Amino acid sequence: AIGFINGQWIPVEQAVLPIDERGHNFGDGVYEVIRVYQGVPFKMREHLERLLKSAEAILLKLPYTIEELEALIAEGLAKTELQEAAVYMQITRGIATRVHLFPDVPASTTMTIRPAADIPSNVREAGINVTLVEDERWKNCYIKSLNLLPNVIAKQKAKDQGFYEAVFVRDGIVLEGSSCNIFLVKDGVLITPPANRFILHGITRATLLDIASSLQIPVEEKEFGPDLLLSADEAFLTSTSMEVMPIIAVDNQPIGTGKPGEISLKLHAHYRDSYK
Ligand code: PDD
Repeated sequence: AIGFINGQWIPVEQAVLPIDERGHNFGDGVYEVIRVYQGVPFKMREHLERLLKSAEAILLKLPYTIEELEALIAEGLAKTELQEAAVYMQITRGIATRVHLFPDVPASTTMTIRPAADIPSNVREAGINVTLVEDERWKNCYIKSLNLLPNVIAKQKAKDQGFYEAVFVRDGIVLEGSSCNIFLVKDGVLITPPANRFILHGITRATLLDIASSLQIPVEEKEFGPDLLLSADEAFLTSTSMEVMPIIAVDNQPIGTGKPGEISLKLHAHYRDSYK
Protein backbone atom coordinates (compact mmCIF):
# COMPACT_ATOMS: atom_id res chain seq x y z
CA ALA A 1 0.00 0.00 0.00
CA ILE A 2 1.12 3.56 -0.66
CA GLY A 3 -0.08 7.09 0.12
CA PHE A 4 0.17 10.38 -1.75
CA ILE A 5 -0.21 13.89 -0.38
CA ASN A 6 0.31 17.09 -2.32
CA GLY A 7 3.07 15.90 -4.60
CA GLN A 8 4.73 13.35 -2.31
CA TRP A 9 4.51 9.58 -2.07
CA ILE A 10 4.48 8.43 1.56
CA PRO A 11 3.76 5.27 3.58
CA VAL A 12 -0.01 5.16 4.23
CA GLU A 13 0.60 4.80 7.95
CA GLN A 14 2.66 8.02 8.12
CA ALA A 15 0.90 10.64 10.25
CA VAL A 16 -0.03 13.68 8.16
CA LEU A 17 -2.79 15.72 9.72
CA PRO A 18 -2.74 19.40 8.79
CA ILE A 19 -4.92 20.90 11.52
CA ASP A 20 -6.58 23.37 9.20
CA GLU A 21 -7.30 20.98 6.34
CA ARG A 22 -10.76 21.83 4.98
CA GLY A 23 -11.45 18.20 4.23
CA HIS A 24 -11.51 17.61 7.99
CA ASN A 25 -13.03 20.88 9.08
CA PHE A 26 -15.85 21.12 6.57
CA GLY A 27 -15.85 17.90 4.56
CA ASP A 28 -15.05 20.43 1.83
CA GLY A 29 -13.95 18.12 -0.94
CA VAL A 30 -14.73 15.33 -3.35
CA TYR A 31 -13.41 11.82 -3.91
CA GLU A 32 -13.32 8.73 -6.09
CA VAL A 33 -12.72 5.03 -5.57
CA ILE A 34 -11.27 3.13 -8.53
CA ARG A 35 -10.73 -0.62 -8.65
CA VAL A 36 -7.59 -2.01 -10.25
CA TYR A 37 -7.89 -5.44 -11.83
CA GLN A 38 -4.79 -7.28 -13.01
CA GLY A 39 -2.78 -4.07 -12.77
CA VAL A 40 -5.22 -2.00 -14.85
CA PRO A 41 -7.49 0.68 -13.30
CA PHE A 42 -11.05 -0.16 -14.42
CA LYS A 43 -13.04 2.72 -15.99
CA MET A 44 -10.43 5.18 -14.78
CA ARG A 45 -11.37 7.86 -17.31
CA GLU A 46 -15.05 7.68 -16.29
CA HIS A 47 -14.14 7.97 -12.61
CA LEU A 48 -11.87 10.96 -13.20
CA GLU A 49 -14.48 12.66 -15.36
CA ARG A 50 -16.96 12.22 -12.53
CA LEU A 51 -14.36 13.65 -10.12
CA LEU A 52 -14.13 16.71 -12.36
CA LYS A 53 -17.93 16.98 -12.42
CA SER A 54 -18.12 16.71 -8.62
CA ALA A 55 -15.37 19.33 -8.23
CA GLU A 56 -17.12 21.73 -10.60
CA ALA A 57 -20.36 21.25 -8.69
CA ILE A 58 -18.69 22.43 -5.46
CA LEU A 59 -16.85 25.26 -7.29
CA LEU A 60 -13.46 23.63 -6.76
CA LYS A 61 -10.81 23.74 -9.44
CA LEU A 62 -8.94 20.45 -9.75
CA PRO A 63 -5.20 21.01 -9.24
CA TYR A 64 -4.40 18.45 -11.95
CA THR A 65 -5.74 17.65 -15.37
CA ILE A 66 -7.40 14.28 -15.89
CA GLU A 67 -4.32 13.16 -17.84
CA GLU A 68 -2.07 14.19 -14.94
CA LEU A 69 -4.26 12.28 -12.48
CA GLU A 70 -4.10 9.21 -14.72
CA ALA A 71 -0.31 9.50 -14.76
CA LEU A 72 -0.22 9.86 -10.95
CA ILE A 73 -2.31 6.72 -10.49
CA ALA A 74 -0.03 4.84 -12.89
CA GLU A 75 3.02 6.09 -10.99
CA GLY A 76 1.61 4.95 -7.64
CA LEU A 77 0.56 1.60 -9.03
CA ALA A 78 4.04 1.01 -10.42
CA LYS A 79 5.47 1.78 -6.97
CA THR A 80 3.18 -0.64 -5.15
CA GLU A 81 3.37 -3.32 -7.86
CA LEU A 82 -0.17 -4.27 -6.80
CA GLN A 83 -2.26 -6.14 -9.33
CA GLU A 84 -5.55 -6.17 -7.41
CA ALA A 85 -5.94 -2.79 -5.76
CA ALA A 86 -8.29 -0.02 -4.73
CA VAL A 87 -7.33 3.59 -5.46
CA TYR A 88 -8.88 6.22 -3.18
CA MET A 89 -8.42 9.78 -4.41
CA GLN A 90 -9.54 12.86 -2.52
CA ILE A 91 -9.36 16.53 -3.49
CA THR A 92 -10.21 19.22 -0.94
CA ARG A 93 -10.28 23.01 -0.87
CA GLY A 94 -6.93 22.98 0.89
CA ILE A 95 -5.29 24.03 4.13
CA ALA A 96 -6.30 27.41 5.55
CA THR A 97 -7.43 29.01 8.81
CA ARG A 98 -10.96 27.90 9.51
CA VAL A 99 -13.38 30.37 7.99
CA HIS A 100 -16.31 29.33 5.84
CA LEU A 101 -15.46 31.47 2.82
CA PHE A 102 -13.24 29.81 0.21
CA PRO A 103 -9.53 30.39 0.94
CA ASP A 104 -7.08 31.43 -1.76
CA VAL A 105 -4.83 28.39 -1.32
CA PRO A 106 -4.01 25.36 -3.45
CA ALA A 107 -6.39 22.41 -3.29
CA SER A 108 -5.14 19.33 -1.40
CA THR A 109 -4.80 16.07 -3.28
CA THR A 110 -4.45 12.82 -1.38
CA MET A 111 -4.50 9.27 -2.60
CA THR A 112 -4.07 5.78 -1.22
CA ILE A 113 -3.49 2.64 -3.22
CA ARG A 114 -4.11 -0.52 -1.20
CA PRO A 115 -4.73 -4.19 -1.87
CA ALA A 116 -8.38 -4.61 -2.91
CA ALA A 117 -10.59 -5.89 -0.10
CA ASP A 118 -12.66 -8.44 -1.95
CA ILE A 119 -16.07 -9.46 -0.69
CA PRO A 120 -15.96 -12.99 0.77
CA SER A 121 -17.33 -15.41 -1.81
CA ASN A 122 -19.75 -16.98 0.69
CA VAL A 123 -21.43 -13.57 1.20
CA ARG A 124 -21.73 -13.00 -2.52
CA GLU A 125 -23.01 -16.52 -3.17
CA ALA A 126 -25.58 -16.34 -0.39
CA GLY A 127 -26.81 -12.86 -1.37
CA ILE A 128 -27.69 -10.15 1.11
CA ASN A 129 -30.52 -8.81 3.23
CA VAL A 130 -30.92 -5.02 3.06
CA THR A 131 -33.04 -2.58 5.03
CA LEU A 132 -34.96 0.44 3.76
CA VAL A 133 -34.24 3.68 5.61
CA GLU A 134 -35.39 7.25 5.23
CA ASP A 135 -32.98 9.32 3.15
CA GLU A 136 -31.79 12.18 5.33
CA ARG A 137 -29.16 13.40 2.89
CA TRP A 138 -29.13 16.68 0.99
CA LYS A 139 -30.42 17.21 -2.55
CA ASN A 140 -27.08 16.97 -4.38
CA CYS A 141 -26.33 13.28 -4.04
CA TYR A 142 -24.90 13.19 -7.59
CA ILE A 143 -21.82 14.94 -6.15
CA LYS A 144 -19.32 12.45 -4.73
CA SER A 145 -18.68 14.67 -1.73
CA LEU A 146 -16.73 13.84 1.42
CA ASN A 147 -19.82 14.53 3.51
CA LEU A 148 -20.86 10.96 4.22
CA LEU A 149 -22.29 11.24 7.72
CA PRO A 150 -25.83 10.11 6.80
CA ASN A 151 -24.30 7.29 4.76
CA VAL A 152 -21.98 5.96 7.46
CA ILE A 153 -24.67 6.19 10.15
CA ALA A 154 -27.21 4.39 7.95
CA LYS A 155 -24.71 1.64 7.10
CA GLN A 156 -23.70 1.13 10.74
CA LYS A 157 -27.30 1.03 11.99
CA ALA A 158 -28.16 -1.45 9.25
CA LYS A 159 -25.22 -3.67 10.22
CA ASP A 160 -26.10 -3.48 13.92
CA GLN A 161 -29.55 -4.79 13.00
CA GLY A 162 -28.09 -7.67 10.98
CA PHE A 163 -28.45 -6.14 7.49
CA TYR A 164 -25.69 -5.87 4.92
CA GLU A 165 -26.69 -2.47 3.56
CA ALA A 166 -29.12 0.40 4.07
CA VAL A 167 -31.14 1.50 1.05
CA PHE A 168 -32.35 5.09 1.06
CA VAL A 169 -35.99 5.95 0.38
CA ARG A 170 -37.02 9.58 -0.16
CA ASP A 171 -40.69 10.56 -0.44
CA GLY A 172 -41.65 6.96 -1.11
CA ILE A 173 -39.04 6.50 -3.86
CA VAL A 174 -36.24 3.93 -3.54
CA LEU A 175 -32.98 5.63 -4.53
CA GLU A 176 -29.70 3.88 -3.74
CA GLY A 177 -27.69 2.18 -1.01
CA SER A 178 -25.45 4.03 1.43
CA SER A 179 -22.49 3.27 -0.86
CA CYS A 180 -24.02 1.64 -3.95
CA ASN A 181 -26.74 1.82 -6.59
CA ILE A 182 -29.75 -0.48 -6.76
CA PHE A 183 -31.37 -2.47 -9.56
CA LEU A 184 -34.34 -4.81 -9.72
CA VAL A 185 -35.63 -7.27 -12.29
CA LYS A 186 -39.37 -7.52 -12.87
CA ASP A 187 -40.88 -9.66 -15.63
CA GLY A 188 -37.55 -9.78 -17.44
CA VAL A 189 -37.04 -5.99 -17.38
CA LEU A 190 -34.03 -4.51 -15.60
CA ILE A 191 -35.11 -1.42 -13.66
CA THR A 192 -32.95 1.15 -11.85
CA PRO A 193 -33.73 4.63 -10.51
CA PRO A 194 -32.94 7.46 -12.96
CA ALA A 195 -29.59 9.26 -12.70
CA ASN A 196 -30.94 12.50 -11.22
CA ARG A 197 -29.64 14.65 -8.37
CA PHE A 198 -30.86 12.21 -5.71
CA ILE A 199 -28.36 9.43 -6.50
CA LEU A 200 -24.71 9.08 -7.31
CA HIS A 201 -24.35 8.30 -11.01
CA GLY A 202 -22.45 5.09 -10.41
CA ILE A 203 -19.82 4.01 -12.91
CA THR A 204 -20.74 0.39 -12.18
CA ARG A 205 -24.41 1.29 -12.74
CA ALA A 206 -23.60 2.76 -16.17
CA THR A 207 -21.42 -0.25 -17.03
CA LEU A 208 -24.23 -2.63 -16.06
CA LEU A 209 -26.76 -0.72 -18.19
CA ASP A 210 -24.39 -1.06 -21.16
CA ILE A 211 -23.90 -4.77 -20.52
CA ALA A 212 -27.66 -5.33 -20.19
CA SER A 213 -28.28 -3.58 -23.52
CA SER A 214 -25.60 -5.63 -25.21
CA LEU A 215 -27.31 -8.77 -23.88
CA GLN A 216 -30.65 -7.44 -25.15
CA ILE A 217 -32.08 -7.34 -21.67
CA PRO A 218 -34.76 -4.62 -21.67
CA VAL A 219 -33.77 -1.73 -19.41
CA GLU A 220 -35.83 1.00 -17.77
CA GLU A 221 -34.48 3.91 -15.77
CA LYS A 222 -37.52 4.86 -13.71
CA GLU A 223 -38.61 5.70 -10.21
CA PHE A 224 -40.12 2.95 -8.09
CA GLY A 225 -41.29 2.54 -4.52
CA PRO A 226 -40.73 -0.18 -1.93
CA ASP A 227 -43.74 -2.12 -3.29
CA LEU A 228 -42.13 -2.83 -6.65
CA LEU A 229 -38.85 -3.73 -4.96
CA LEU A 230 -40.61 -6.18 -2.63
CA SER A 231 -42.49 -7.77 -5.52
CA ALA A 232 -39.41 -7.93 -7.78
CA ASP A 233 -38.16 -11.22 -9.23
CA GLU A 234 -34.57 -10.22 -8.49
CA ALA A 235 -32.65 -7.29 -7.08
CA PHE A 236 -29.02 -6.35 -6.68
CA LEU A 237 -26.66 -3.58 -5.62
CA THR A 238 -23.76 -2.23 -7.68
CA SER A 239 -20.57 -0.38 -6.79
CA THR A 240 -16.89 -0.34 -7.59
CA SER A 241 -16.15 -2.53 -4.58
CA MET A 242 -19.32 -4.69 -4.55
CA GLU A 243 -19.51 -5.11 -8.34
CA VAL A 244 -22.93 -6.85 -8.57
CA MET A 245 -24.24 -7.97 -5.18
CA PRO A 246 -27.48 -10.00 -5.23
CA ILE A 247 -30.19 -8.93 -2.76
CA ILE A 248 -32.17 -11.91 -1.48
CA ALA A 249 -34.27 -10.08 1.10
CA VAL A 250 -35.47 -6.58 1.97
CA ASP A 251 -36.17 -6.09 5.67
CA ASN A 252 -36.17 -9.87 6.02
CA GLN A 253 -38.84 -10.34 3.33
CA PRO A 254 -37.54 -12.60 0.56
CA ILE A 255 -37.14 -11.20 -2.96
CA GLY A 256 -38.10 -13.59 -5.77
CA THR A 257 -37.02 -17.10 -4.90
CA GLY A 258 -34.99 -15.82 -1.92
CA LYS A 259 -31.80 -16.76 -3.77
CA PRO A 260 -29.47 -14.72 -6.02
CA GLY A 261 -31.33 -14.23 -9.31
CA GLU A 262 -30.37 -15.68 -12.67
CA ILE A 263 -30.16 -12.35 -14.50
CA SER A 264 -28.19 -10.81 -11.61
CA LEU A 265 -25.63 -13.62 -11.78
CA LYS A 266 -25.44 -13.42 -15.55
CA LEU A 267 -24.84 -9.66 -15.42
CA HIS A 268 -22.15 -10.13 -12.80
CA ALA A 269 -20.40 -12.77 -14.90
CA HIS A 270 -20.38 -10.38 -17.87
CA TYR A 271 -19.17 -7.55 -15.66
CA ARG A 272 -16.23 -9.66 -14.55
CA ASP A 273 -15.52 -10.54 -18.17
CA SER A 274 -15.55 -6.88 -19.19
CA TYR A 275 -12.27 -6.09 -17.41
CA LYS A 276 -10.41 -9.23 -18.40
N1 PDD B 1 -19.21 4.15 -3.30
N2 PDD B 1 -23.95 5.43 -4.54
C1 PDD B 1 -23.19 5.86 -3.51
C2 PDD B 1 -23.85 6.68 -2.45
C3 PDD B 1 -21.82 5.52 -3.46
O1 PDD B 1 -21.06 5.95 -2.45
C4 PDD B 1 -21.27 4.72 -4.49
C5 PDD B 1 -19.81 4.35 -4.52
C6 PDD B 1 -22.10 4.28 -5.54
C7 PDD B 1 -21.59 3.43 -6.67
O2 PDD B 1 -20.72 4.16 -7.51
P1 PDD B 1 -19.62 3.42 -8.40
O3 PDD B 1 -20.30 2.33 -9.13
O4 PDD B 1 -19.13 4.49 -9.29
O5 PDD B 1 -18.59 2.90 -7.43
C8 PDD B 1 -23.43 4.67 -5.53
C9 PDD B 1 -17.77 4.02 -3.26
C10 PDD B 1 -17.27 2.75 -3.82
C11 PDD B 1 -17.31 4.27 -1.83
O6 PDD B 1 -17.75 5.25 -1.27
O7 PDD B 1 -16.50 3.50 -1.33
